[in-house]
Amino acid sequence: MKRIEPTKRPLRGEISVPGDKSIGHRAVIFASIAHGRSTIFNLSGGEDNLRTVQAFKDMGVKIWSESDLLCIDGNGWDSLSKPNETVDCGNSGTAMRLLSGVLAGRPFTSRLDGDPSLRQRPMQRVIDPLSRMGAQIRSKEGKGLAPLEIQGGKLKGIDYRMPVASAQVKSAILLAGLQADGITSLEEPQSSRDHTELMIKGFGGEAKVDGRSVVVAGGQKLSAREVRIPGDISSAAFFLVAAAVIPGSEIIVRDVGVNPTRDGAIEVLRRMGAKIEFLNRRIETGEPVVDIKVCGSQLAGIDIGPEMAARTIDEYPILAVAGALAEGTTTISGVKELRYKESDRIATMTEGLRHLGVEVEERDDGMTIRGGKPLEAASVKTYGDHRVAMSLAIAGLSTNGGLQMDDAGCVDTSFPGFFDLLNRVRSHSVSRESI
Ligand code: S3P
Repeated sequence: MKRIEPTKRPLRGEISVPGDKSIGHRAVIFASIAHGRSTIFNLSGGEDNLRTVQAFKDMGVKIWSESDLLCIDGNGWDSLSKPNETVDCGNSGTAMRLLSGVLAGRPFTSRLDGDPSLRQRPMQRVIDPLSRMGAQIRSKEGKGLAPLEIQGGKLKGIDYRMPVASAQVKSAILLAGLQADGITSLEEPQSSRDHTELMIKGFGGEAKVDGRSVVVAGGQKLSAREVRIPGDISSAAFFLVAAAVIPGSEIIVRDVGVNPTRDGAIEVLRRMGAKIEFLNRRIETGEPVVDIKVCGSQLAGIDIGPEMAARTIDEYPILAVAGALAEGTTTISGVKELRYKESDRIATMTEGLRHLGVEVEERDDGMTIRGGKPLEAASVKTYGDHRVAMSLAIAGLSTNGGLQMDDAGCVDTSFPGFFDLLNRVRSHSVSRESI
């Protein structure tokens, strides 16, 4: 049980958020399969990234921490050994799907499992292409759900048209493609985040990207490197919205990754009237990084169409909160994928916002939110979904009598220290601090 009191004062401060979760998973994977010692700065301490670290430790990779960095001695694909136990992916869909791509090409049988939420998420979308490449994958009762048993081995390259835009599926195919005989090519219906493609190049390999298609050759040798992980835009988004909707607020979030395949929420918030500025633009480890300054104002409702889906996918819960606090109607459409996340985010956010007194229409592929009315005091459920918990917490700041949530521990999945940081920007005590 967690209580969020309404805020009487604007939010202020300069903050940092944990390292990008998507880049973190990939940094650990590529460092483990490359040759030589890689160093990773700013890996998030979130549970999801730690699952991927543990998975490679389970496969015999030497991984250790030295003050604020993670060191990995990689020794190529063939150095990975069969894990003794089932690999526990916890709550992490990214860990399970990307590891499936890694394990598909390894000459042993392994098992991947996760928590009750992960056991309900669709895995057939990786089973299909990886099976076509030659892996044998068994899912629970053949229904495409975890636990997965993967009998890996010799793979062949494929030419694959992905039915849904998904960076996890794309990455699983590319990781298998790097181990396959011949060429693997894929095409997505919409461009999803491209951290895997950038990471292949960063580790000295080649991935040819042409619009929505990617081509990799098998048998490439990857070399160790230093990776600096920028702050996670998906974590920053909670603070950007919190400051954007509370008049008089001013927050700077330092060192945030703004890869153009991830920055949909910035575009959406600007279209809603948010005052957002990018400061100190630079490139770090191939990824664009900025400090983001946001000032509070009155937002206006807008249409967020299907074209925004891939670039914005993890930010819909917090954008729904922005919609609830904006004047007028916000319509979200073309995001049926939200129903397959850590929770069914269309259903869980509709329920949460309705408890706060917001008029919400739920549709199969989105929702319509009539914003602008003061939020009521409420007791809400997070369904163990970290982004739902953090989004509702931000809504709680603007209620007239506070908000109570059943389970807030799930924020540790991606953002340990979230509530402390929120308290600090509320009490104005933050200055150039990081968590
Ligand atoms: C991720 C891809 C997205 C996103 C998830 C992280 C990744 O999932 O929602 O939080 O790191 O590749 P999908 O690939 O299922 O869209």
